[in-house]
Amino acid sequence: MSMGFPDVRLRRLRRTSMLRAMFDSAPPSPAKFVWPVFLVEGDNRKEPISSMPGQSRMSADELLRALHPVAEQGVGGVLLFGQTEGGKDEGGSGAFDDTGVVQRALPLIKRAFPDLVVMTDVCLCAYTRHGHCGPLGRDGQVDNDAANGLLSRVAVSHAAAGADVVAPSAMMDGQVAAIREALAENSLENTLLMSYSTKFASSMYGPFREAENSAPSAGDRKGYQASFANLRAALRESQLDEAEGADILMVKPALFYLDVLARLRDRTDLPLAAYNVSGEYSMLHAAAEQGYGELYAMARESLTALARAGADIILSYWAPFYTRIFGKQ
Ligand code: PBG
Ligand code: ZN
Repeated sequence: MSMGFPDVRLRRLRRTSMLRAMFDSAPPSPAKFVWPVFLVEGDNRKEPISSMPGQSRMSADELLRALHPVAEQGVGGVLLFGQTEGGKDEGGSGAFDDTGVVQRALPLIKRAFPDLVVMTDVCLCAYTRHGHCGPLGRDGQVDNDAANGLLSRVAVSHAAAGADVVAPSAMMDGQVAAIREALAENSLENTLLMSYSTKFASSMYGPFREAENSAPSAGDRKGYQASFANLRAALRESQLDEAEGADILMVKPALFYLDVLARLRDRTDLPLAAYNVSGEYSMLHAAAEQGYGELYAMARESLTALARAGADIILSYWAPFYTRIFGKQ
């Protein structure tokens, strides 16, 4: 008997749907998913984001309403993004204002959904007038070390308000160490620190920047976010954040970077997050709209790829549609 065709026929293992179900990996469970949401000030506000079908900016009361069906499906967590209307300045101080939208929403969410893992994005770009992720130095570049001081204040204000996980996304050198130390100094040693450790300067963040009103008014983020053409530097970014004390590492965006995810999976024993970003979500909607593919089937295929590549958790705008995508678990 040969080790190949015609004795070996792989189609035998996938001949019927029950055989396929038996040998396929289980889909990632809803507990693995985190829904990123955009908070705005006020009450009764639910404003659809035109570039992200199915997603809205919400005031805290509307978010609480929207979370019921999401929690019901067993989705594991939410990732909160805040913004300010009229409160931008050079250093993004609104990001660590104790009366900011994120700080105010945290206790409300924790009270209504005690089991939900509540994460917060820690950055300054939605709060700086120039839209960069930290204050600008004299040379016009983001001042790394000054940014770290401000990011630490943001993280502490979120953790003190009840965040389970703080997630710095500014791509400053040393931001993880600075935040870890600030949390410890404030007796917040149980707060998890999820670093956006390998975050690329990507063209896939466009819809998000519309939602967050956080596009840089001049220049781009290539001086601080990683280059997609430099694999070794991308891996070093995550390895350094592990050494600085991150609890969870991340690759962002996700779908164009499955190689990075798979390599990191081999190099670290930390949990790995994949951030399935706004452009990756919206491009499937755009394709489906054009009739180029079935929306939820494309979503299922892309999310399965992230789990297969090694993601432990998936941050995705698809999270509220879990049951539509994967069926009832
Ligand atoms: C801000 C931030 C961005 C995203 C998450 N945090 C945008 C950026 O870096 O410009 C992108 C998320 C998405 O596109 O879904 N630091
Ligand atoms: Zn930022």
